Amino acid sequence: MKGLILSGGKGTRLRPLTYTRAKQLVPVANKPVLFYGVEAIVAAGIRRIGVVVGETKDEIREALGDGSRFGAEFTYIEQGDPLGLAHAVLISEPFLKREPFVMYLGDNLIADGIASLVEEYRRIGCNSQILLAKVPNPEQFGVAELSDGTVIRLTEKPKEPRSNLALVGVYMFDDTIWDAVKSIRPSARNELEITDAIQWLIDHGRSVHPHVVSGWWKDTGKVEDMLEANRIILDTFLASGAEGLDEGSRVEGKVVIEPGAQIYASTIRGPAIIGAGTEIRAAFVGPYTSIGPGCRIERCEIENSIVLEGSALERIPGRIADSLIGKHVRIHPGAERPRVHRFLVSDNSEIGIL
Ligand code: TTP
Repeated sequence: MKGLILSGGKGTRLRPLTYTRAKQLVPVANKPVLFYGVEAIVAAGIRRIGVVVGETKDEIREALGDGSRFGAEFTYIEQGDPLGLAHAVLISEPFLKREPFVMYLGDNLIADGIASLVEEYRRIGCNSQILLAKVPNPEQFGVAELSDGTVIRLTEKPKEPRSNLALVGVYMFDDTIWDAVKSIRPSARNELEITDAIQWLIDHGRSVHPHVVSGWWKDTGKVEDMLEANRIILDTFLASGAEGLDEGSRVEGKVVIEPGAQIYASTIRGPAIIGAGTEIRAAFVGPYTSIGPGCRIERCEIENSIVLEGSALERIPGRIADSLIGKHVRIHPGAERPRVHRFLVSDNSEIGIL
């Protein structure tokens, strides 16, 4: 069996971060989302993995390498324009050939990995296996309608969903998928939809087995989802000792302090992670916060947030919460006079002030 991990796309819902970085490389608990997916595929015993890349191909390649550090072997597959998930499958045929494969959306996270799911697919011997999760907002997903435990209909982002079962971003296919992706036509949003390809399988008598996942699953396409994924992953952490702490500092709960981080006169209340070489001074870092490497947090309070590498937050009044702060950002009070707010903010940013 082979793997196919999708790392192209536009990432419009995660702007402005995706102006300068692939959305699959935004870190959750200080590790790019994409790495969790690759690790899950490798843990399922799959080594040969196709990586579909788009305009951020150089960055993805640089982060992933040839696969050896994951115990995998990567083949990069360039998708000119992000013309849909089924299009990504279509262009991967020379790599996948006739072998069954698991397709994994590179911005998805799934509890407990996929090893047991891949094993189930092999055992059942169906043409395709899809994963479904109960969600409160099915209109934002591909939605499945079941009858007597079989899938009868799939609809992409329906206005009036007929169930609350959303398609999770992990799919398994055998070679019957090739007829499907070659037969379907682009949708109203001009994409080749994977839901249409799976519907084609159903309509042509192929077996599509639904597996309703019981653990959590997160599509990290939006900021709130990113923060929630960060909370979920940080919760799975164990505390890792208290190196880098001075006498005036306290660590409570599950806190990971990466090598070279320095903490002075501060409280870190976990679950939290402090990146390598970061300096925290006279600050409070509250639960569910990931501070990336090389940051500086001074006289600030921050919780339920993600701060990317090299950023500095200094002397901010009030508590920073529910925030996603990009790379090399500086937030600090302006000059005493005139007392003005001064911003240099990129497109599609959002700032909430006191
Ligand atoms: P989506 O989140 O559906 O699409 P997107 O990345 O364009 O994001 P947005 O809606 O915010 O603009 O994509 C799911 C995953 O699949 C993601 O990792 C990107 C990847 N993808 C491709 O590789 N090729 C494609 O043609 C599409 C549509 C997505």
